[in-house]
Amino acid sequence: MSHDKIVKHEHDVLVVGAGGSGLRATMGVSQSNHTVACISKVFPTRSHTVAAQGGISGALGNMGDDDWRWHMYDTVKGSDWLGDQDSIEYMCKNAVESIIELEHFGVPFSRTEDGKIYQRPFGGMTTEYGKGIAQRTCAAADRTGHAILHTLYTQALKNNVDFFIEFFVIDLIFEDNKCVGVLAWCLDDGTIHLFQSHIVILATGGHGRTYQSSTSAHSCTGDGNGMILRSNLPLMDMEFIQFHPTGIYGAGCLITEGARGEGGYLTNSEGERFMPKYAPNAKDLASRDVVSRAIQMEVNAGRGVGKDKDHALLHLEHLDSNIVHEKLPGITETAKIFAGVDATKEPIPVIPTVHYNMGGTPTNHYTEVIADGSGNIVEGLMALGEGACVSVHGANRLGSNSLLDLIVFGKSAAERACKILDNHNKKHPKVQTSTIDNILSSFNNTRNSSGDISTAELRDKMQKTMQRYAPVYRNKKTLQEGIDIMKGLFSDFNNISVSDKSLIWNSDLVETLELNNLLYQSLATLYSAYNRKESRGSHAREDFPDRDDKDWLKHTMVFVDEKGNSTFDYKPVKLDTLTDEVETVELKARTY
Ligand code: FUM
Repeated sequence: MSHDKIVKHEHDVLVVGAGGSGLRATMGVSQSNHTVACISKVFPTRSHTVAAQGGISGALGNMGDDDWRWHMYDTVKGSDWLGDQDSIEYMCKNAVESIIELEHFGVPFSRTEDGKIYQRPFGGMTTEYGKGIAQRTCAAADRTGHAILHTLYTQALKNNVDFFIEFFVIDLIFEDNKCVGVLAWCLDDGTIHLFQSHIVILATGGHGRTYQSSTSAHSCTGDGNGMILRSNLPLMDMEFIQFHPTGIYGAGCLITEGARGEGGYLTNSEGERFMPKYAPNAKDLASRDVVSRAIQMEVNAGRGVGKDKDHALLHLEHLDSNIVHEKLPGITETAKIFAGVDATKEPIPVIPTVHYNMGGTPTNHYTEVIADGSGNIVEGLMALGEGACVSVHGANRLGSNSLLDLIVFGKSAAERACKILDNHNKKHPKVQTSTIDNILSSFNNTRNSSGDISTAELRDKMQKTMQRYAPVYRNKKTLQEGIDIMKGLFSDFNNISVSDKSLIWNSDLVETLELNNLLYQSLATLYSAYNRKESRGSHAREDFPDRDDKDWLKHTMVFVDEKGNSTFDYKPVKLDTLTDEVETVELKARTY
């Protein structure tokens, strides 16, 4: 393609992704005197944040005493001490203000009798450093993400943001090691666009679709993380994949943890309520890694439910049906459609299902991307949301801390970007022709490739491999097998067949580019899981069952090259807090 045909744009800030974090960052910059554009491959209100159900955490104290320090303690403990305590302090301290701000933007939260924001209990959220159960998760019934996403989109529209909707970003552009923009493809008319900006903010979401059964939307392909790896930058803590305990058996759809927050509980094939055996205090409201492992252990012990004895049951039928319909309308409908169950009368069949990626593009608490274990910053590049690793979730995220992460760090990214730009030369550098040519040549190679394997076939093999070789419990043998198979699939990408060669609404090509991103991240996950020789949070190694703080209290940083080979670096966990308003949460064994 001739360069004259490339459509050129210049902005101060470019946000890639229009989910909760991307829109919050976009909105923040749009309130300044800097220009901002937001690019999204899907219509903004179709971003996966729309699917978040149970709520957003914050120590508002509307339903009893609460304190952001208790929230911080729970989050560090939930992370199995792999979370960075400076970032966690920042998030928990800023939660209340950020949620009140959302309320003022217009988010229709559920209310208490006296008109305050309704808050429900969620797993791992406690009062007084583990003594009581906290009601900390602010909810809009069980459609909280939907309420937040629509509100943020309308706020961004109010501020006249330049949206580029249904544009697919192909790759990042660097000049002199500084990120200066992106090259994107407009799906609607097939044009190629060069977006130049002083700061690129990646808010491209998680990579749940590396697995076969996932609560994530099919669009959750972690495109930004693919771009990061192709730019010879690392991803951090990719071995930590969260399995949500209650995905609907056979369908994978999410049944919110809010169901257990409202009083639901799990049983095995003997009708036994088994969680008290594994978590005597928190029971069904232990952290997700604990509950998912407990279900798996019941199944392994032959107490799984159903013909194949491979799942558990979630009970809500003992609750007042009016409460279930009022507080959990979405999952009642989902249970009916996808499990054929009336949740007010019979239990829902559930199984641990891939739900969240704790790992991603490493950043500091200002959301600036980090290039290596020494913490060097990549100039011009920021990342946030599920695709990033700031790291507030460490080895295991607490439910309802994800929406909070999006909102707090979306705001922080906007503030940081504006601060950097206040003293910045506003002239955009010239992008070398060869830089564009390299990206376009790889794009066209993929578009014109006529190999032997279809995108759907290769994706299916990749997803089945992840499901089988990187499940809840892992060991050296299965992970090595997984790596060997995945390396083969990674090179099979060179033999892919794209049947539609056009540039207009070519979903075959979109899915192929997404698959490339997924393959990079699948390898990054398998390598990192093989490499970490301990069990921590969601990473449960059968051959290394204990947490090993002596050797593994550190973040994994993995690089994957174009041949699919890996190298590692490590970054120390930040055990120091940001301020002296709170004390470091001391390392100890984690029990619930
Ligand atoms: O269970 C849920 O509602 C999910 C919430 C979350 O992942 O934060």
